[in-house]
This record gives sequence, C-alpha cells and structure tokens, in this order.
Amino acid sequence: MYQVRLLPNNITFTANAQQTVLQAALNAGIAFPNRCQVGVCAMCMCRKQYGEISYKLAPMLTPQEQAQGWIFACQARVESDLVLSLD
Ligand code: FES
Repeated sequence: MYQVRLLPNNITFTANAQQTVLQAALNAGIAFPNRCQVGVCAMCMCRKQYGEISYKLAPMLTPQEQAQGWIFACQARVESDLVLSLD
C-alpha cells in the first residue's frame, strides 16, 4: 500500500498499485474532482509534486504539461508514495 497526500489541504489516503489515483481517493471517501473517469474531460487533472505513477494508455498531455507534473488522476496508477496538488 502507498500513501497519497493531497495538497493544499493535506488530505492523505492509501492506494495500491492496482488502483488509479482517482479510484483510491473515491474509495477513501474523498471528493476528488472527476466526471468521465476515462481520460477525456480533464476534470481530474492534478499536479504530481513527488512520486511515481504509470499509465496503461498515456493521456493527451503536452510535453510542457508533463514537465509541469500534470497527471490524469483517473488514468494514473499509483507506483509509489505520492504528493499531489489540486491547486
Ligand atoms: S475524470 Fe475525466 S479525465 Fe479524468
């Protein structure tokens, strides 16, 4: 199990490597922004400050967005402890 910390409110929840960030947050009862849950609407976008994620199918992010740490929480599988920002 990994620990995921959500900034700016410092909410923490646990996730395993089989789960997406969004699945883990919703399972923990956290009101994580989302709509489509299939990588289209971008409602779940957040910035990774620390840690590793992986994708089965890489979402449509520009190289600049990737460099800034933007991820799609509904597609990103947790691969380590994470710190994410919802700012
Ligand atoms: S919930 Fe729509 S892209 Fe993630």
